[in-house]
Amino acid sequence: MPEDDVPAHAGRPTVRVSVGAAPEDGRSTLIERIAGHDGIAVVNAEGRVDNPEDTAKDAAQADVTVVIVDARSGLTAHSKQAAACACMTGVRHLVLAVNKLDLVGWDQHAFQTIAEAFRSFTAHLGPATTTAVPVSALAGENIETPSAHTPWYDGPPLIALLRAIDLDPDCAARPFRLPVSAVSRPDPDHRHYGGTLACGTLRRGDAVQVALSGVTSTITRVLVDGEDAESAGPGDAVAVALGDHVDLSSGDMLVPPEHRPQVTSQFAAHLTWMSDEPLLPGRDYTLEVAGREVTASVTGVKYRIDLETLRHAPARTLRHGEIGACTIALAQPMAVDDFADFPQTARFLLKERYAGRALAAGTVDFALRRGVNVHVQPLAVDKERRTALKRQKSCIVWFTGLSGAGKSTVANLVEGKLAARGQHTYLLDGDNIRYGLNKDLGFTDVDRVENIRRVGEVAKLFVDAGLIVLCSFISPFRAEREGVRGLVQPAEFIEVYVRAPLTVCEARDPKGLYAKSRAGRLPNFTGIDSPYEEPAEPELLIDTASGDPEALADAVIVLLESRGIVARTDPGAG
Ligand code: ADX
Repeated sequence: MPEDDVPAHAGRPTVRVSVGAAPEDGRSTLIERIAGHDGIAVVNAEGRVDNPEDTAKDAAQADVTVVIVDARSGLTAHSKQAAACACMTGVRHLVLAVNKLDLVGWDQHAFQTIAEAFRSFTAHLGPATTTAVPVSALAGENIETPSAHTPWYDGPPLIALLRAIDLDPDCAARPFRLPVSAVSRPDPDHRHYGGTLACGTLRRGDAVQVALSGVTSTITRVLVDGEDAESAGPGDAVAVALGDHVDLSSGDMLVPPEHRPQVTSQFAAHLTWMSDEPLLPGRDYTLEVAGREVTASVTGVKYRIDLETLRHAPARTLRHGEIGACTIALAQPMAVDDFADFPQTARFLLKERYAGRALAAGTVDFALRRGVNVHVQPLAVDKERRTALKRQKSCIVWFTGLSGAGKSTVANLVEGKLAARGQHTYLLDGDNIRYGLNKDLGFTDVDRVENIRRVGEVAKLFVDAGLIVLCSFISPFRAEREGVRGLVQPAEFIEVYVRAPLTVCEARDPKGLYAKSRAGRLPNFTGIDSPYEEPAEPELLIDTASGDPEALADAVIVLLESRGIVARTDPGAG
């Protein structure tokens, strides 16, 4: 690797660069040329390009995005998408590399036209800086050393340009943010809270507050790279000791008391969706922000951004490569910064809850008032009192399975048996709920997720009311069934997989819907052209292809007895 004239950047943080372009624009060649230089890390190295999970992670990490454009074709939809995606996931610096300029005779006018178009497009995206450089990645012109072919270009070559970008001139002056990633005990009486200072300057003697809990203290000791120091700045590996005994753990954030983030359970955000699976509003995902993880769901898509015009377009979901404005709800309150004021701590990733695969990257716009000002109202009569009156434990018995598997039949029998024993129950059934509460929902994946989310919330209320709630829904997705499970206490959710082979359900076809679906007159029918994910570990599996419904219903009752939901019947009472 030829050394260039810029000295190595000791003390300067490594610039994390992502490269956005279509493969034919010279992406891999340019990445090779950039990679390996001191002070520069290419976060999306070749070979991972088409993996959506990596794309999301890269997007959430990059400081600078280089958008490559072929000088012959100019700005394409792809290059606009790369620029928009970068800005909406928190990249504040864009560099346009107008590539293959040798193929248009190093034409200054061609370069300027593309650079102008890029500037006017990106102006609305709000990056801190936008720079353009004429290059030939293949010939290595204007990459490490200035090109003799572009006397009209007075800027630095690409590598020098990347190194010279001041990522956040305000960084040290911002209120400090210390996400705690390690807690150590140098001796039995002391604790050190360590992490990388995201922004701001922190000094010994500073007042400090734990962002989420609001507990305050004073910084009594500052260590940078393990050595005592008076102060620490952005990017420093810091450990602090506090003047009071504070219960802090990894994932907490230390901030100045006068600049505490909002503690909220809902916020508005921009989201770039990078998975092949579309966004499912209402589904539980894992949100990762500033070193913390919390369960979160998108409660609504406000609009999608048309990447050609940057206009707002109506949308209910986001698909691969789409960017939108959304509201996000958290399973528990969290301290969140706004991206406008805290570019370092307000970028986040959304991941699959169980598999952990990254799905999307985004930036926090602002905390929603409803997430700050709505508090849980304590009630005088509680679940324990209500269930005691009914002489039962309340719970959800969740029947899942294909249409025609026999869910409603068994659930009905179970409810009859429980009623005969004087138990207080309620049966929520898919077809019935879709006549009322959920009449606005159809059978797309998005609607099914919302169907189960609402039913889960209703069932949770009924559990609180002290009832044994029988739920009979196809509920084809594991994630939503697990979501309902998570709404109540572990012992309060009993999943019953009502299993029958598709062929059996189709032969039964009680409502004639399989026939309609096969005839192409009913799209998105479960088992035919819409998926069913079997429960991995149901509390009970009942096979309706071989078992008699009465006996299967008894099996459910026996399970409820064994779990102490209802009392065992006295065998002597007959
Ligand atoms: S779920 O998938 O969202 O859980 P739900 O249990 O509420 O479905 O509703 C299923 C019932 O709706 C079925 O029993 C069937 O009678 C009816 N139905 C109508 N269209 C469809 C469809 N495309 N797929 C499945 N069920 C359908």
